[in-house]
Amino acid sequence: DNHIVIMAGGIGSRFWPMSTPECPKQFIDVMGCGKTLIQLTVDRFKGICPQENVWVVTSEKYVSIVREQLPEIPESNILAEPCARNTAPCIAYACWKIKKKHPNANVVVTPSDALVIDTAEFRRIVEKALHFTAESSAIATLGVRPTRPETGYGYIAAGDAILADKEILKVDAFKEKPDKDTAEAYLSAGNYFWNAGIFVWNVRTITAVMRVYAPGIAQIFDRLFPDLYTEREDEVIRKFFPTCESISIDYAVMEKAEEIYLLPASFGWSDLGTWGALHGLLPRDNSGNAVIGQDVRLYESKNCIVHASEEKRVVVQGLDGYIIAEKDNTLLICRLEEEQRIKEFSQ
Ligand code: GDD
Ligand code: MG
Repeated sequence: DNHIVIMAGGIGSRFWPMSTPECPKQFIDVMGCGKTLIQLTVDRFKGICPQENVWVVTSEKYVSIVREQLPEIPESNILAEPCARNTAPCIAYACWKIKKKHPNANVVVTPSDALVIDTAEFRRIVEKALHFTAESSAIATLGVRPTRPETGYGYIAAGDAILADKEILKVDAFKEKPDKDTAEAYLSAGNYFWNAGIFVWNVRTITAVMRVYAPGIAQIFDRLFPDLYTEREDEVIRKFFPTCESISIDYAVMEKAEEIYLLPASFGWSDLGTWGALHGLLPRDNSGNAVIGQDVRLYESKNCIVHASEEKRVVVQGLDGYIIAEKDNTLLICRLEEEQRIKEFSQ
């Protein structure tokens, strides 16, 4: 059977100050469409599995937000991390847990901070990946054709298609977040894709590859295994989860694993990871400015993104290529091209 694991414990620091540690971007209606990013994520998977097979892994401090925003998900499917240890331990917790009751489960791991345009095509590709990994020990990833030398994504070098299906490509190499020059080389090489951060594999495969490439984390969950679904679970997670190495699945497993395949994604994808990504998605005026806010006035300005909270009037004159974002007691003014540094500015 199919299960969906939604990773929702990030703090969205590159989207500061709209995204804050109290309420990160996955719980915000970033697009102004009436739904938060995590609600859009759950909607996207409807029909692929029943609600009781949808899992959310998040920090214990966001559990109440998740319950409020996703009342249809069983409360026992919301897994609480006592502290953030990045995505490898997050995935391990969910997958060891699923495996205990469903030893043959097939799992899609997804971020909660991306946007997909063509949902029908998205479901088609995900179903295909699920079908491919159900009976094999392959890891499937979804790859997006790059349009710019983005340094905020992982890159996947694709090789030839497998014989049985020309939409499934063998992965030659996986490179998490390259520097600018490397990203430019990947872009011009032509066979590189962006990693959409969506992984499809069965629980036997995940646990096996983690035992090889992330043995420390795997050992912790192997040891906790008997306590899952018992009244001791909370206690042992509180005690042992913090002892996991803090590492992303990309560095821990994807860069090292052997049998990875890629399905090209043509469903219109965007990681809403940064202000620049949002700028690219929102409607823009003739000068390339995108505005969120009730009373934003721009003069002789172009290529800016402005975010103002409801009661604020924001007036901008003479700026080109800037993020101007205010929320609560914070105002950020930053060149769009320096946006990867917002993480550091938000500390
Ligand atoms: N539960 C939990 N715990 N979730 C986490 C944690 C954690 O400690 N850290 C991050 N997440 C969640 C985030 O909320 C997000 O939904 C997802 O995991 C990915 O984390 P990000 O922090 O947003 O990663 P990224 O955007 O820098 O990079 C990843 O995604 C890119 C595409 O969006 C990588 O997989 C890249 O290779 C990829 O291109
Ligand atoms: Mg992200």
